[in-house]
Amino acid sequence: MLQERIAAPRLSKGKAPAMKDRVPGPGTATAADDDAAHESRLERAQRAVDSLARTRRDRWYPHFHIASNGGWMNDPNGLCRYRGRWHVFYQLHPFGTQWGPMHWGHVSSADMVTWRREPVALAPSMPQDASGVFSGCAAESPDGHLMLYYTGTRKKTLDGSGRHEHEVQMLARSRNADASAFRKLGMIVDCPSEGMEGAFRDPKVWRQGGRWLLVVGVGSESGRGQIWLYSSPDMVHWRFDRVLYEHPDVDVFMLECPDFFPLADADGNEEWVLSFSAMGSKARGYTNRNANSAGYVTGTWADGEGFTPRSAFRPWDWGHNYYAPQSFEAPDGRRIMYGWMSPFAHRMPMDRDGWCGQLTLPREVVLGRDGRIRTCPVAETERLRCVRRDIGPVRLGPNEERTVCDDAWAVEIVMEVNLRETTAERAGLKIHHTCDGSYTYIAYDDQTRRIVVDRQAAARGDRGYRAAPLSESDLESGTLRLRIFIDRGSVEVYANAGEQVLSSYSFASPGRRRVTLTSESGVSSIGSLSIYDMRGIGLD
Ligand code: FRU
Repeated sequence: MLQERIAAPRLSKGKAPAMKDRVPGPGTATAADDDAAHESRLERAQRAVDSLARTRRDRWYPHFHIASNGGWMNDPNGLCRYRGRWHVFYQLHPFGTQWGPMHWGHVSSADMVTWRREPVALAPSMPQDASGVFSGCAAESPDGHLMLYYTGTRKKTLDGSGRHEHEVQMLARSRNADASAFRKLGMIVDCPSEGMEGAFRDPKVWRQGGRWLLVVGVGSESGRGQIWLYSSPDMVHWRFDRVLYEHPDVDVFMLECPDFFPLADADGNEEWVLSFSAMGSKARGYTNRNANSAGYVTGTWADGEGFTPRSAFRPWDWGHNYYAPQSFEAPDGRRIMYGWMSPFAHRMPMDRDGWCGQLTLPREVVLGRDGRIRTCPVAETERLRCVRRDIGPVRLGPNEERTVCDDAWAVEIVMEVNLRETTAERAGLKIHHTCDGSYTYIAYDDQTRRIVVDRQAAARGDRGYRAAPLSESDLESGTLRLRIFIDRGSVEVYANAGEQVLSSYSFASPGRRRVTLTSESGVSSIGSLSIYDMRGIGLD
C-alpha cells in the first residue's frame, strides 16, 4: 500500500485555534480591528478592479464565460450552491493583469445562465495571509453559514525565519444570507513543521459519515507531489489523518488544487476520483504539453483506509490552456466542475486590454457504464443558445474550403462527421478566420485518429497544436460528434459527448471572424452542422 511506504509526517505541535480564538492581527488587534482592516483592503481591491474595467478592451473578453471585470484571474474557488444561488469565486489580482497578491473575486447566479458580479470577497489582511489569499473551497455549516476554506500565504514564518513562503489553511464565514460579505476566522491548520518542503495549499473540504474531511496539496520533504487527508468533527478543529496519495512520477514536485469525490455509473458502481494539478511532469508524446497538467486517477477508497488507485493518470482536458479545476456536488446530485483557462508561461495578448484569464464552461462529470469519465457542458448551457442556423449535410471535395458563417464571435457549433465517407487526411474547420489569413484550426486527423486544435496560423499569442485521442469504440461507430464553443478569445471543443475536451485561447485578428469548413487531401462528409448564436451570461 502506498500509505505504508510513505512516512507519516510529524506535525506542528501548535494547536489550531478555536473559532472564538481568532488569530489576532499585529499589536493589540481585536476582531473589530481585523474586520476593519479587511474591509479597507476589500474596498481598495474593488476600486482597482472597477478602474481597470472602465478602460477594458473587449475584442477577446468572453461573452459567455466567467471572467473578472478587470485584472488578472486564475483558479475557480469556493464553488457551491448556497441558499438558492450558484456561487463561483476565483483567484484575483485586482491591481494588474499579471499574477500578483491574491484575492478572491466572486460572481453568483440563480440559474447558472445569467450571472451577477459580487463584491471582492477576500483580501490579504491578516499576518497569516499577508502575501495572498490562495485557492480553496466552500462548504455550508450545519447552522447555515457559508464557510470558505483557503490557503493563507506569507513570506517565511511570522518571526522572519524559514526559507520558503509559509502556507497555512484558513477559514472565513459568511456574514449575510447572500454570501456577499465574509468574516475571517483565522488559521485552522498550521504549516506542518516536518514532512513537507514549502508548498502546503489548496484545501478542499466535504462532509462524509458525520464528520468533515479535507484534502490539501503538498510538496513533500523528499520533493514529491503528495495529497494529505485531514478530518474534523466540527469544521474548525482538524487532525492529520494520512498521506492519501503520492504521485508516481518523480518529476512531479507538487499537486495543486486536489479534489476527491465519488462518482457512480447508471448501475450504481462507484469509483473514487482523485483530481489534481501536477507541477513538474515532463512532456511525453502528446501528453503533458502544458507547463503543468490537470487530471485525475480513479480508484477505491473508504473512510479510515488508504486510497488504492486503479487507473492511470488521465487529463481532464487536452487543450493548450486548462488548469486548476475544482468540482462540487449540486443539490440534484450532479458533479459539476469549472477549470481555469490558464495562460501558462506565455504572455497573453489580452493582458494589455485590462484583464487576463477566464474560466471554462461548467462541466458535468459523469461515469459511463464503460468505466470512462466524460465531461460535458451542464444542461443549462443549452439555454444560452438563441438563433439557430442549420447548414445541413455538407460534402467537401479534396482540398475544398467553404465558409459556413461570416462572423462568428460567440457561437456554438454542433456537427457530425461521417467517418466512413470521409477520406480527408484532416477534416475540420477554421475558426476566428480573418481577412489577414489567421485562424485556429479544429480538425479530425485521420492519420493520428485524434481531434486536433492547431494554432499554427494564429497571428497573436502562443502557437503549437494539441491532439486528443478518440476511443476505438467511438471511431468504429463511424460518426464523430463535436460541440465547439467559440467565444471572443477562446474555443472549447467537446468530442463524442465529452469523451475528450480541448480548451484553448484563440486571439482573433480585427475584422469579421469566419468559420470555414476545410477538407485536406480527400473528401469530407459532414452529416449535419448547426450554428447557434450564444447570448451573454450578463458579465460583459
Ligand atoms: C494553482 C495555484 C494554487 C494556488 C493559487 C495561487 O494555479 O498555484 O496552487 O493556491 O494558484 O494563485
